[in-house]
Amino acid sequence: MRPMTAHWRKALARRRRQLMQAAGDGAILILPAAPERVRSRDTHYPYRQDSDFWYLTGCDEPDAVLVLVPGRAHGEAILFCRERDPAREAWDGPMLGPEDAMEALGLDDAYPVSDIDDILPGLLEGRRRVHYHLGRDADFDLKLIGWINRVRAQVRQGAQPPQEFLELGHLLDEMRLFKSADEIKLMQRAADISVEAHRAAMRAARAGVHEYELQAELERVFRLHDAQPAYASIVGAGANACVLHYRANAAKSRAGELVLVDAGAEYRGYAADITRTFPVDGRFGKAQRALHDLVCAAQAAALAQARPGVPYEAGHRAAVETLTDGLLSLGLLKGTLKTALADGAYKRYYRHKTGHWLGLDVHDVGEYRIDGASRLLEPGMVFTIEPGLYVPADDATVEAKWRGIGIRIEDDVLVTDDGHRVLTGALERSADDVERLMAGG
Ligand code: GLY
Ligand code: MN
Ligand code: MN
Repeated sequence: MRPMTAHWRKALARRRRQLMQAAGDGAILILPAAPERVRSRDTHYPYRQDSDFWYLTGCDEPDAVLVLVPGRAHGEAILFCRERDPAREAWDGPMLGPEDAMEALGLDDAYPVSDIDDILPGLLEGRRRVHYHLGRDADFDLKLIGWINRVRAQVRQGAQPPQEFLELGHLLDEMRLFKSADEIKLMQRAADISVEAHRAAMRAARAGVHEYELQAELERVFRLHDAQPAYASIVGAGANACVLHYRANAAKSRAGELVLVDAGAEYRGYAADITRTFPVDGRFGKAQRALHDLVCAAQAAALAQARPGVPYEAGHRAAVETLTDGLLSLGLLKGTLKTALADGAYKRYYRHKTGHWLGLDVHDVGEYRIDGASRLLEPGMVFTIEPGLYVPADDATVEAKWRGIGIRIEDDVLVTDDGHRVLTGALERSADDVERLMAGG
């Protein structure tokens, strides 16, 4: 456990109160910690706490359960966690333990998780609504059903089992979508670390560099700042850039190729998500530059839509229009802007959307549409803007010079009261700026 400051303890207590208020009296909210996952025989993947659990507890241990019981006189915020075990701590490091959890995390009550079967049915009894992420953790789903059945078995003795089961995300996702000033500070830190990492990768590039060497540069900088990759870093040279979630990162680059780097740091749970595409040997070719300029223009068009009151989808529409127009001018598409937009011709070269919410999860929670319509942007929302163009290496419908070029440019944007702030705006983006940086500027 990282020690938590009093300021954070208070902020987390506020979040729990806000969630309980939204759920109302008569509700109970149940959130298990993420389970540990085996990677190989008896060793585990590096542990990553469930984002919701982290958001509400600041506790990064597995085998824990947060239970929120709004209006409960004997305490509303209850944690079940592992008991301390000196023999185990000698191998795995310090554990929180229920004795210290209350004080350390600012909770009302804490019990050993080994007692949960005895205690939870009593907490469920008399609560009408259960808020829970059904289907996220099948083992835990079964435990919950067991506890509920224990209450149901007591009906003739007067027990009142819950009547309604609700998706926890309805309330919690909406809270997480709007970032507080504290969260924005952490996201800015994740962004700053990621900017430095991308610069290190650009500086380390040269013809013949392996994709994994650039990955090593990125992740060296992440670790240097107590961060880690927020998702598997993508480093794709040449036509590998056209594989949207390329992860092999094993190829050797060749002179004259572009390399696409999509990598972001996770800092205190918060993700950054940046993509830059640059020439391994420091100079864009003519065709490469033309497509890079076009993707830059599409990103600028989308960014111009990032302000309160504008539909989220307006950014995607602006990017698509700019890309389509440019592809027509460069001769990669035929026809008029109107027909090319209407028949979605751009999808041949641009297969994804222009962004996603960003936060504790790299593809963060939150609705994109409300009652069938794109939701309007509001201050505190953070999302990526990441247009791209990917010309398949075997596309015989275009001139050879375009084939195998893959470009994406991705930045992280906060909606502010009067517009936006690009959290990752410090990183070189235009072809000229990238070349200057790579030349040692
Ligand atoms: N890095 C994954 C994405 O850009 O959505
Ligand atoms: Mn992204
Ligand atoms: Mn990305």
